[in-house]
Amino acid sequence: MARHHINHKDIARFACDKVNLPKDKADEYRAQARRLREKLESYVGEHPDFTLKKMLLSGSLAKGTALRSLNDIDVGCYISGADAPNDVAALLNYLTERLRKAFPNFSPDQITPQTYSVTVSFRGSGLDVDVVPILYDGDPNWYGNLVSQDDGSFLKTSIPLHLDFTKARKQAQEKHFSQVVRLSKFWVRNVKRERDDFRFKSFMVEMILSHLCDQGLDFSDYPEALQHFFTYIARTNLREQIIFDDYYPATTVGTFSDPIQIIDPVNAENNVGKLYTTSNSAAMVEAALDAGDAIDSALAAPTKTETVYYWQKIFGPAFQA
Ligand SMILES: Nc1ncnc2c1ncn2[C@@H]1O[C@H](COP(=O)(O)OP(=O)(O)OP(=O)(O)O)[C@@H](O)[C@H]1O
Ligand SMILES: [Mg+2]
Repeated sequence: MARHHINHKDIARFACDKVNLPKDKADEYRAQARRLREKLESYVGEHPDFTLKKMLLSGSLAKGTALRSLNDIDVGCYISGADAPNDVAALLNYLTERLRKAFPNFSPDQITPQTYSVTVSFRGSGLDVDVVPILYDGDPNWYGNLVSQDDGSFLKTSIPLHLDFTKARKQAQEKHFSQVVRLSKFWVRNVKRERDDFRFKSFMVEMILSHLCDQGLDFSDYPEALQHFFTYIARTNLREQIIFDDYYPATTVGTFSDPIQIIDPVNAENNVGKLYTTSNSAAMVEAALDAGDAIDSALAAPTKTETVYYWQKIFGPAFQA
């Protein structure tokens, strides 16, 4: 591969400058989530029967895969008790009311229900914290019914096990696994800018890359790792079932009829791709084909200007040599 104009190092620098959430910001937001969690812990300490049991940082900030464009802090909140409502709208009102009780220093208008979560807003600095309810009945691995942020359905899953799952891939390809996740998410963001209806959930990006990681792909060269990601999508048409056997034997995975089947690594019955139609999937494949072609062209381009032009097809105008 010809690389005079843009090489791995250039992509790594672009990631640092434009893609990644800077470390001081990540630390600040994690500390913000921690303070909220500790506030709840101390309230629970004084009121042991309180039905909110624990708050846990989840999502990209917890996994170290957040983009610079991060706009809220994802926190899961474990709710126990037979009296917690099962209807999502009622559950969100219930969670709002409980959070207002546990955080009396916040005025009620700082704690407000959204469609599938409750937002806690801080005055002045910091990001909003998005609290996602998880119905919980004491499972030691913190399995619970998480309210899906996509459609409000209940998903049985375990956030701490997801974090462990990702940690194992991060250890297998130190630094590079998370970096390739972030670069791929940045590509998704760029495709979304151009196509309103394009969908490609971050968790799916991460699962596809985890699958490639488990197959032994070396992530240390970013143009190459990205090219493998795009080629995988194009080659399989996203019709290959992705399964991980970290937490259950592969044989226990049931039969699904959805076009995209990426099975939750911690629950063999949960297909992470279940909301994706054949047309969603076709758009993902097409975008990956375009991106793969753009990388080939970038690596073969004779001039720097042309090379940059092709990388911009992948990452958008933010990419500058
Ligand atoms: N369909 C799902 N099934 C099970 N767990 C899910 C599902 N979707 C999301 N999750 C959980 O929610 C977390 C956040 O998922 P999401 O797709 O928002 O990614 P993210 O890493 O937070 O990325 P982003 O930076 O785009 O917010 C995942 O790490 C996972 O624990
Ligand atoms: Mg998130």
